[in-house]
Amino acid sequence: MYMLGINASPRIGGNTDILLDKALEGARLKGADTEKIILNQLKISPCQECPDMPNESYCVIDDDMQAVYAKVKKCDILFFASPIFFGSLSAQAKIMIDRFQCIWRAKYLFKNDAFMDKKRIGVFISVEASERRDFFDNAKEIVKNFFATINTVYKKELFCPGVDEKAGILKHPDYLNTAFELGKKIASKGV
Ligand SMILES: Cc1cc2nc3c(=O)[nH]c(=O)nc-3n(C[C@H](O)[C@H](O)[C@H](O)COP(=O)(O)O)c2cc1C
Repeated sequence: MYMLGINASPRIGGNTDILLDKALEGARLKGADTEKIILNQLKISPCQECPDMPNESYCVIDDDMQAVYAKVKKCDILFFASPIFFGSLSAQAKIMIDRFQCIWRAKYLFKNDAFMDKKRIGVFISVEASERRDFFDNAKEIVKNFFATINTVYKKELFCPGVDEKAGILKHPDYLNTAFELGKKIASKGV
């Protein structure tokens, strides 16, 4: 069982990062092989809508996204984590998701989809300073669309409102425990 965590926050050791680590820790306890990607540390170009875009499941831009595609394809479980920025996902998250347009095209236009090899399980983790449920719902719609594109079932979510300062999540043991239990549960039962 390979579980991939993707952190879309620029803040290392920030709230998203801590929550994701907790989930991965819980999964490891149940025997999962885990890995974390920090998007902000990668060189990823925004989608260029290339005129010579291939009809197959790959992107012609040769940057760190190539490794991200391989890891997402390999994973059985994906924990995708992003803070709320301006009522939506972070820019790092959106740039990565847009680069899955090659998969979307291959899947829906050309029925030639490299991610159909297996069903993955997906979990979305998000944190925001305010108490705006509509911001989480907005981000969730984008993540659901992304998960559907990569043949991933949107299984669970963890939304943590009211957390702003760096590592402020440490003052919320309930959120940390929920992330840990979620990692354990998904890794052991897939539910
Ligand atoms: C550029 C930017 C935009 C933000 N926009 C929102 C917002 O729209 N709503 C909100 O509740 N919090 C917003 N925040 C606050 C973050 O969601 C909050 O600080 C969160 O805990 C950051 O998580 P992190 O430590 O994982 O980066 C914003 C923060 C930044 C830096």
